[in-house]
Amino acid sequence: MSRRFADLDQRRSELLQGGGAARAARQHEQGKLTARERLALLFDPDSFVEFGLFARGPASEREGRPYPAEGIVTGKGWMRGRQLFAYSQDFTVAGGSVGRLHADKVVECLRTALKCGLPVVGFNDSGGARIQEGVEALSGYGQIFYMNTLLSGVVPQISVVAGPCAGGAAYSPALTDFIVMVDRTSHMFIAGPEVIRAATGEEITDEALGGAAVHAGVAGNAHFVAADEAHAVEIVKDLLSYLPSNNLESPPDLPFEERMVDDESLDEVVPEDPRQAYDVNDVIRRLVDGGRFLEVQPAFGPSVLTGFGRLAGMVVGVVANQPMVLAGALDIDASDKAARFVRTCNVFNIPLVSLVDVPGFLPGVAQEHGGIIRHGAKLLFAWSAATVPKMTVILRKAYGGAYLAMCSQDLGADSVLAWPTAEIAVMGPEGAAGILYRKELDQAEDRGALLREKVAEYRRLHANPYRAAALLAIDDVIRPSWTRRLLIERLATLRAKRDLRPQKKHGNIPM
Ligand code: HXC
Repeated sequence: MSRRFADLDQRRSELLQGGGAARAARQHEQGKLTARERLALLFDPDSFVEFGLFARGPASEREGRPYPAEGIVTGKGWMRGRQLFAYSQDFTVAGGSVGRLHADKVVECLRTALKCGLPVVGFNDSGGARIQEGVEALSGYGQIFYMNTLLSGVVPQISVVAGPCAGGAAYSPALTDFIVMVDRTSHMFIAGPEVIRAATGEEITDEALGGAAVHAGVAGNAHFVAADEAHAVEIVKDLLSYLPSNNLESPPDLPFEERMVDDESLDEVVPEDPRQAYDVNDVIRRLVDGGRFLEVQPAFGPSVLTGFGRLAGMVVGVVANQPMVLAGALDIDASDKAARFVRTCNVFNIPLVSLVDVPGFLPGVAQEHGGIIRHGAKLLFAWSAATVPKMTVILRKAYGGAYLAMCSQDLGADSVLAWPTAEIAVMGPEGAAGILYRKELDQAEDRGALLREKVAEYRRLHANPYRAAALLAIDDVIRPSWTRRLLIERLATLRAKRDLRPQKKHGNIPM
């Protein structure tokens, strides 16, 4: 064998070892993979092309010791026939800490992805800013944040949090479109348990402060929780199967040749008693192809469901009230979650389907003081500003401002269908009758009987879909089992929809 490239081979093989076998073994003991193992799971075999393997930053130069590849592997590869960029922090090299060159590599990866219009997946596993590099490291983070922002709305950015994300480091994932957190091994916080102990004396664990469950269910930062890293990569692949590579492309529709048959079991899902709850998943899974629905942020603001599915192969984003939680009312978290999802779909040209069964915005002091007006306004804004096809189906209750906030015709819905169970009104019959007939009720001999009578009258006159249909506020009243067929027909019509808006820098969404 020729020795001509022995020096190159030697250098490459040393760098590819990262922080070495012992540190890699420690990763494995902790239930974590190494940076390169993660990329191997993400990309098709032998398709990854690495950039910047020989990078060497100021700390390494000063200290005269190697920081292989600067603690980060960056490059591009193929995943199920699509190209994408990725970076993967190498915890075995100085704890994956972010030095000047480490940051430069991430920035270059992001810049190239932007130039080429390709998605980026980042694996985060880092002790944060490299302490020895001081302001250089901070500046590096700043440039990463800046690039995350430039890419936002152009190419999908997905973060996998697979280790500590301490300090400002959590903000790079937070600036991306989706965060997948690995259960138990990943944490995100701005100030860790030691800082909290020093400041307040309070004892708290990493997990309780910023584990996956906290971010998925309470803080709303994480969109998905993975059982382990292999699962996290599966989620990323599934997610990307619904997203275009950039904002100038359509989402990846699939060919669809199945014969269209109405599913009559859909006619039975909504109970006849308007006070009885049902699981809106039973509706969604009957509407989308093969019952496949990728739910986004399932644990956060669960009175609304958001997620991706397909209608005859065409990707759609679904926003649906969940009557099983808070009777489907919109609270602060549900409004935030739905608004963000609507905007994500809009930037990536994904048509939206809204399934409405909403008694209103959630009343209460905590909600009012927490800013439900500001957060609810976000949802009104997001729907109004979205220019993708918007198709609304009113399943049951559609009361008050929340009816509008689930995308009524007035907010630009291109199609509004209602089921016969739909009740489109300013408020529910009980509340309305109580206000409209307060004096009569106060004076009535049998208050209960009069209230029942007035509720029935209100229901007959107002809380049904026919009044709205008569006023053309909805297009049609249909049997539930026709919904899938009619949505597909409308979506086929709307695919080439154009909705031109006045030029401006950007709207001023309430935040
Ligand atoms: C340089 C670091 C480092 C860092 C870890 N290391 N963090 N080196 N800068 N920030 C090194 C360690 O010295 C060690 O080197 C190796 O990585 C592994 O670290 P361990 O501590 O042995 O690992 P572990 O016990 O798993 O603990 C991981 C950790 C802890 C929780 C992340 O290392 C830690 O708390 N690090 C500091 C976190 C932090 O405060 N970072 C700054 C946040 S502020 P050897 O050679 O011994 O293997 C920030 C500002 C961002 O990031 C600004 C953006 C706005």
